[in-house]
Amino acid sequence: MAEERPLARVTCTAPVNIAVIKYWGKRDNDLILPINSSLSVTLHQDQLKTTTTAAASRDFAEDRLWLNGEEADVGHPRLQACLREVRRLARKRRGGSAEDAAALSLSYKIHIATENNFPTAAGLASSAAGYACLVSALARLYGAAGEPSEQGQPSEQGQPSEQGQPSEQGQLSEVARRGSGSACRSMMGGFVQWQRGERPDGRDSIARQVAPETHWPELRVLILVVSGEKKQVGSTAGMQTSVDTSPLLKHRAEVVVPERLALMTRHIRERDFEGFGKLTMQDSNQFHATCLDTFPPIFYLNDISRQIIALAHRFNAHHGHTKVAYTFDAGPNAVIFTLADSVAEFVEVVRRSFPPAINGDRFVRGLPVGSASLPGELLAAVVTEPVPGGIQYILHTKPGPGPQLVDDPSQHLLGADGLPRRSP
Ligand code: PMV
Repeated sequence: MAEERPLARVTCTAPVNIAVIKYWGKRDNDLILPINSSLSVTLHQDQLKTTTTAAASRDFAEDRLWLNGEEADVGHPRLQACLREVRRLARKRRGGSAEDAAALSLSYKIHIATENNFPTAAGLASSAAGYACLVSALARLYGAAGEPSEQGQPSEQGQPSEQGQPSEQGQLSEVARRGSGSACRSMMGGFVQWQRGERPDGRDSIARQVAPETHWPELRVLILVVSGEKKQVGSTAGMQTSVDTSPLLKHRAEVVVPERLALMTRHIRERDFEGFGKLTMQDSNQFHATCLDTFPPIFYLNDISRQIIALAHRFNAHHGHTKVAYTFDAGPNAVIFTLADSVAEFVEVVRRSFPPAINGDRFVRGLPVGSASLPGELLAAVVTEPVPGGIQYILHTKPGPGPQLVDDPSQHLLGADGLPRRSP
């Protein structure tokens, strides 16, 4: 009889990221190679995270996957690509050393369970956190990587070695990229650049940390959840049509983005909110302009999104400088960057502009927000025509670290039998 052995299980968490210089368009659909580099801010996992448990056993009859408690298709080509690439890295790392016999067999079937603490496909980049988490858990399970990041420690990740080799997180970002392009940026904390790379095999299309999450302690993020509905046109289909039809996108990738990346990196290094905020808004606007330039056109912003844009500009104009900056991905939700001392006032402006229809007490979630009373002239200048119920809720968060290993065994999503612990 086979000896009883504890099941090999690893649980990791991974963050969402929000691009301030957007990725839109692939030059290679299979390898997921972008037409331009991009830059994002990793958000804190206390508010938004994916948790994934990966387990492998010779007793498993087949590979299986559960997403938020529901069994899902494990044969998805992008998921399979990630699995294949993590195993390749593990093989390379093991390199035929004496420890091989003790290492987990790469041929065992695997079980994967993954959960988000936020609505999937609500335009909150769930696929980025999801694939980053999957790759982190698999890499650790197979010994293709060391610790993703010491829990609670600020991360300094993605820096190349002196020989110019990508760091371990850099190599893993290449794997996460195969799941979803933007996922490679969720492999690191703080401020992260995904460099487009030049090589046809994508080996240099990896993420690098520009600055760790501790770099800009005053920076805050407000997610204005406009709609929990599934997005209209998925990013894969949308960006393909844009690459095929938009001359503006071509110009953006070749001319605009390279200049903006250098500028944005400088604004971040100098913690220059005026420059950072203005460029963030401009780049979001240009991304949505390329969507309108796509034929047939794609619309991700709705009336509420446009009202938020106008509100942010009135707020900044009233103060005479950039106090808040918006950015929108492939959906109507707004992500607002601001500094800690402006949060309470701007949240109050949003509450007055979009009076909550229901859940008034749960309108603001996440990090605490102080109270602010608005001066009459600010109200008159900024809050023009209130739209009740336009925003469902606001999530207050800040930049955060990259993927984390969860040490506590009670947090595994798969039980000792390799099946999901919680019923759907
Ligand atoms: O990685 P994808 O396929 O989910 O595409 C992400 C595209 C945007 O979110 C719109 C921009 C970005 O850089 O994250």
